[in-house]
Amino acid sequence: MNDRIVSVEEKEEDIFEKNIRPEYLDEYVGQYEIKENLRVFIKAAKMRNEPLDHVLLYGPPGLGKTTLAHIIANELGADLKTASGPSIEKTGDLAAILSNLEPGDVLFIDEIHRMPSYIEEILYPAMEDFEIDLVIGGEGKSKSIKINLPPFTLVGATTRAGDLSSPLRDRFGIVSKLEYYSFDELKDIVIRSGRVFDIKVTEEAAMELAKRSRKTPRVANRLFRRVRDFALVEGTGIIDLDITLKALKRLHVDDSGLDSVDREYLTSLIEKFNGGPVGVETISTSIGEEVTTIEDVVEPYLLQEGFIKRTNRGRIATQKAYNSLGFDYNIGLFKED
Ligand SMILES: Nc1ncnc2c1ncn2[C@@H]1O[C@H](COP(=O)(O)OP(=O)(O)O)[C@@H](O)[C@H]1O
Ligand SMILES: [Mg+2]
Repeated sequence: MNDRIVSVEEKEEDIFEKNIRPEYLDEYVGQYEIKENLRVFIKAAKMRNEPLDHVLLYGPPGLGKTTLAHIIANELGADLKTASGPSIEKTGDLAAILSNLEPGDVLFIDEIHRMPSYIEEILYPAMEDFEIDLVIGGEGKSKSIKINLPPFTLVGATTRAGDLSSPLRDRFGIVSKLEYYSFDELKDIVIRSGRVFDIKVTEEAAMELAKRSRKTPRVANRLFRRVRDFALVEGTGIIDLDITLKALKRLHVDDSGLDSVDREYLTSLIEKFNGGPVGVETISTSIGEEVTTIEDVVEPYLLQEGFIKRTNRGRIATQKAYNSLGFDYNIGLFKED
């Protein structure tokens, strides 16, 4: 099997990620409903000595999908094998991954919406009946062979459940949408990170980081990591409010809770397009971010927090967006519908 297929997803933050990732449901903060349901399903599967039903996890990046996939395998006491949609380029790639599975394995396919549909089709019988149909040979001499697979659990993750074909979506028995985190939950995540890395974080400092993290654990941990550096080099060795505020200032993280791309998006929407309505492609060109990034990463948060609205004529900025960025809302008021 191709190495590239197996070793996706691990990038620059790797070593940190490996240490910081909760390994069991009890350490996984928030997402209460998903967690409690999974607990039941996992326990039932173990009692029946059957594989857990296939699980689809969806939601914006950084909310804990990959982490949860690892946790599912750990809770099941199973091995996790990973792959990612974009790196599965041929039907043979997927067939190789599937035929290498051991009984009870959890197969995690990240960005599962990015698998071409002709490859996706191999998954249907694999998920339903634990078998795959392979066509071998060619030019008149081709024949179809059936390969039996061991029972396994597929965990798929995607930022876009809507892009999944319905036959694929329907084959997941458990479908869970991850939600943005509350400040208290993010505070707990930061404090936990402090424990893991053996550095004291005060409650106030953790809350400050929580508020500036776009309600996203990945962002909270990223800020934690940087503030930790400041605490070490320029502070007292603990993460208190003082060094946190200083570090956040140096990192240009303001207290609106928006990141630089969020702000660029909103500023462009307000300044160049008079608050909208404007199409996502136009915004994309204007700020030089890909449409998929805007739709999967930027907009879900801005919508959830009420900075923008989606209309059938395009996106519009709300009063909250104007206020947060210091624009005068009355100028664009007639634009609201
Ligand atoms: N519920 C959670 N509790 C604690 N840490 C979390 C939680 N969810 C995510 N994290 C942390 O946030 C980071 C990003 O999570 P990840 O699973 O990679 O997100 P996704 O796969 O959805 O993009 C990781 O460092 C992970 O440890
Ligand atoms: Mg992930």
